[in-house]
Amino acid sequence: MKKSTKRQVIQKEKEANVVFLKTMKETIFSFDEKANGLNEEQYPTILLESLRAIISSLEEKDPYTHGHSIRVSEYSVLLGRAVGLNERELQELELCSLFHDIGKIGIPDNVLLKPARLSKAEFEIMKSHPVRSAKILEKITAFKNVLPGIKYHHERFDGLGYPEGLKGDAIPLAARIILIADTYDAMTSTRPYRLALDKQVAFDELRKCAGSQFDADLVEKFIHALENQEWRTHGKGLDLIKNIA
Ligand SMILES: [Fe+2]
Repeated sequence: MKKSTKRQVIQKEKEANVVFLKTMKETIFSFDEKANGLNEEQYPTILLESLRAIISSLEEKDPYTHGHSIRVSEYSVLLGRAVGLNERELQELELCSLFHDIGKIGIPDNVLLKPARLSKAEFEIMKSHPVRSAKILEKITAFKNVLPGIKYHHERFDGLGYPEGLKGDAIPLAARIILIADTYDAMTSTRPYRLALDKQVAFDELRKCAGSQFDADLVEKFIHALENQEWRTHGKGLDLIKNIA
């Protein structure tokens, strides 16, 4: 990868900020416009559309994570469906997974955008992001139910995760789902330090860490859902095309 100069990086950040502010403005106006004359049941859909737009514009800053939160939310909802969550629970799971990494806003760019593996000290800074995410959102009523899923999305099934080292079923279901969706998307996307892994290689990795890092039952349900059904993504959730098996 060609190394960018400091000036190019600053210019890119400025452009990303402009895109973000423009999207925020458009989103708020369109939300306001669409909200007129809607009944209460339609609010969550419009709100989620608006929030997806805001998250996408935030991720403009880092080309390697662009679209990551949307894809994580799509995979999370897919797994949520596979475990039988109802529509309201699925909407909460989508909200939770869309915003799980919002706390990365508070991580310095030299750590967040480092085009190489993080040092131990840098990783410690990075590890603060789930708590930061929950802190940012705790004052918003709409996020009240989804805060645990956000705060604990890096807990491991064996208790060796962070921030609190929760173990097994003590980890909220949404957090266990997001960890699998998040890891799968990270493995199947190109990162500064490696190319995207093949889908089957990613499945093998998930299975290798089932029971230690991940909830083994959820891993099997996730792989089954992705292997046996064909999905189409358009940034607004995954659409089932057909059952293969
Ligand atoms: Fe995260």
